[in-house]
Amino acid sequence: MGELLRFGISIEEKLLQEFDKHIAHCGYQNRSEAIRDLIRNYLVENRWEVGIDEMVGTITIVYDHEIRELTEKLVNWQHDHSSFIISTLHVHLDEHHCLEVLVVKGQAGEIKILADNLLGTKGVKHGKLTMTTTGQGV
Ligand code: NI
Repeated sequence: MGELLRFGISIEEKLLQEFDKHIAHCGYQNRSEAIRDLIRNYLVENRWEVGIDEMVGTITIVYDHEIRELTEKLVNWQHDHSSFIISTLHVHLDEHHCLEVLVVKGQAGEIKILADNLLGTKGVKHGKLTMTTTGQGV
Protein backbone atom coordinates (compact mmCIF):
# COMPACT_ATOMS: atom_id res chain seq x y z
CA MET A 1 0.00 0.00 0.00
CA GLY A 2 1.23 3.50 -0.88
CA GLU A 3 1.28 6.56 1.33
CA LEU A 4 -2.10 7.44 2.86
CA LEU A 5 -3.42 10.90 2.08
CA ARG A 6 -6.25 12.76 3.80
CA PHE A 7 -8.88 14.81 1.99
CA GLY A 8 -12.16 16.45 2.96
CA ILE A 9 -15.56 15.71 1.47
CA SER A 10 -18.64 17.96 1.59
CA ILE A 11 -21.77 15.88 1.88
CA GLU A 12 -25.41 16.36 2.88
CA GLU A 13 -26.08 15.35 6.49
CA LYS A 14 -28.90 12.95 5.61
CA LEU A 15 -26.83 11.19 2.98
CA LEU A 16 -23.94 10.78 5.41
CA GLN A 17 -26.26 9.39 8.10
CA GLU A 18 -27.61 6.82 5.64
CA PHE A 19 -24.06 5.94 4.60
CA ASP A 20 -22.92 5.52 8.21
CA LYS A 21 -25.90 3.29 8.97
CA HIS A 22 -25.19 1.15 5.93
CA ILE A 23 -21.46 0.73 6.50
CA ALA A 24 -21.99 -0.11 10.19
CA HIS A 25 -24.40 -2.83 9.05
CA CYS A 26 -21.75 -4.13 6.64
CA GLY A 27 -19.18 -4.28 9.43
CA TYR A 28 -16.88 -1.44 8.39
CA GLN A 29 -14.86 -0.01 11.26
CA ASN A 30 -14.71 3.47 9.77
CA ARG A 31 -15.73 5.62 6.83
CA SER A 32 -12.27 5.69 5.28
CA GLU A 33 -12.27 1.94 4.78
CA ALA A 34 -15.74 2.01 3.23
CA ILE A 35 -14.90 4.89 0.91
CA ARG A 36 -11.69 3.18 -0.25
CA ASP A 37 -13.71 0.07 -1.15
CA LEU A 38 -16.27 2.19 -3.01
CA ILE A 39 -13.53 3.88 -5.02
CA ARG A 40 -11.88 0.53 -5.84
CA ASN A 41 -15.21 -0.94 -6.98
CA TYR A 42 -15.86 2.10 -9.13
CA LEU A 43 -12.43 1.85 -10.76
CA VAL A 44 -12.75 -1.90 -11.37
CA GLU A 45 -16.22 -1.47 -12.90
CA ASN A 46 -14.94 1.33 -15.06
CA ARG A 47 -12.04 -0.79 -16.33
CA TRP A 48 -14.53 -3.50 -17.30
CA GLU A 49 -16.64 -0.85 -19.10
CA VAL A 50 -13.70 0.49 -21.06
CA GLY A 51 -12.96 -3.07 -22.07
CA ILE A 52 -9.29 -2.94 -23.06
CA ASP A 53 -7.48 -3.79 -19.81
CA GLU A 54 -6.62 -7.34 -18.86
CA MET A 55 -9.05 -8.46 -16.19
CA VAL A 56 -9.98 -11.64 -14.37
CA GLY A 57 -13.38 -12.98 -13.47
CA THR A 58 -15.46 -16.08 -13.04
CA ILE A 59 -18.25 -17.40 -15.20
CA THR A 60 -20.67 -19.63 -13.31
CA ILE A 61 -23.20 -21.75 -15.16
CA VAL A 62 -25.82 -24.32 -14.21
CA TYR A 63 -27.11 -26.71 -16.85
CA ASP A 64 -28.81 -30.05 -17.38
CA HIS A 65 -26.21 -32.46 -18.70
CA GLU A 66 -28.92 -34.72 -20.12
CA ILE A 67 -29.98 -32.18 -22.73
CA ARG A 68 -28.86 -33.60 -26.07
CA GLU A 69 -25.51 -32.29 -27.29
CA LEU A 70 -25.35 -29.54 -24.63
CA THR A 71 -22.39 -30.98 -22.71
CA GLU A 72 -20.51 -31.53 -25.96
CA LYS A 73 -21.29 -27.98 -27.06
CA LEU A 74 -20.04 -26.52 -23.75
CA VAL A 75 -16.85 -28.60 -23.82
CA ASN A 76 -16.15 -27.56 -27.41
CA TRP A 77 -16.75 -23.95 -26.47
CA GLN A 78 -14.20 -24.22 -23.66
CA HIS A 79 -11.61 -25.80 -25.92
CA ASP A 80 -12.10 -23.07 -28.52
CA HIS A 81 -11.48 -20.41 -25.84
CA SER A 82 -8.85 -22.23 -23.79
CA SER A 83 -6.45 -19.27 -23.93
CA PHE A 84 -8.92 -17.29 -21.75
CA ILE A 85 -9.73 -20.05 -19.27
CA ILE A 86 -7.28 -20.44 -16.38
CA SER A 87 -9.17 -23.06 -14.41
CA THR A 88 -12.52 -24.83 -14.21
CA LEU A 89 -14.50 -26.44 -11.44
CA HIS A 90 -17.27 -28.94 -12.15
CA VAL A 91 -19.78 -30.08 -9.55
CA HIS A 92 -22.48 -32.71 -10.22
CA LEU A 93 -25.36 -31.13 -8.31
CA ASP A 94 -27.86 -33.96 -8.70
CA GLU A 95 -28.80 -36.60 -11.29
CA HIS A 96 -29.42 -33.95 -13.93
CA HIS A 97 -27.73 -30.71 -13.05
CA CYS A 98 -24.12 -29.62 -13.27
CA LEU A 99 -22.53 -26.46 -11.92
CA GLU A 100 -19.44 -25.17 -13.62
CA VAL A 101 -17.20 -22.29 -12.60
CA LEU A 102 -14.68 -21.02 -15.13
CA VAL A 103 -11.91 -18.68 -14.03
CA VAL A 104 -11.25 -16.42 -16.98
CA LYS A 105 -8.54 -13.88 -17.75
CA GLY A 106 -8.20 -11.62 -20.74
CA GLN A 107 -9.27 -8.31 -22.27
CA ALA A 108 -12.44 -7.19 -20.49
CA GLY A 109 -14.42 -6.63 -23.68
CA GLU A 110 -13.54 -10.05 -25.07
CA ILE A 111 -14.37 -11.81 -21.80
CA LYS A 112 -17.78 -10.13 -21.74
CA ILE A 113 -18.55 -11.34 -25.26
CA LEU A 114 -17.41 -14.85 -24.35
CA ALA A 115 -19.57 -14.85 -21.21
CA ASP A 116 -22.62 -13.56 -23.12
CA ASN A 117 -22.25 -16.34 -25.67
CA LEU A 118 -21.84 -19.02 -23.03
CA LEU A 119 -24.72 -17.76 -20.88
CA GLY A 120 -26.90 -17.48 -23.97
CA THR A 121 -26.32 -21.12 -24.96
CA LYS A 122 -29.65 -22.93 -25.14
CA GLY A 123 -30.00 -25.25 -22.17
CA VAL A 124 -27.87 -23.19 -19.76
CA LYS A 125 -30.39 -22.60 -16.96
CA HIS A 126 -28.56 -19.87 -15.13
CA GLY A 127 -25.27 -18.13 -15.43
CA LYS A 128 -23.34 -15.14 -14.22
CA LEU A 129 -20.14 -13.33 -14.97
CA THR A 130 -18.41 -12.00 -11.86
CA MET A 131 -16.05 -9.24 -12.83
CA THR A 132 -13.05 -8.59 -10.66
CA THR A 133 -9.50 -7.41 -11.12
CA THR A 134 -5.99 -8.80 -11.35
CA GLY A 135 -5.21 -6.44 -8.46
CA GLN A 136 -3.02 -4.22 -10.63
CA GLY A 137 -3.80 -0.52 -10.60
CA VAL A 138 -6.34 -0.43 -7.78
NI1 NI B 1 -21.76 -32.96 -13.93
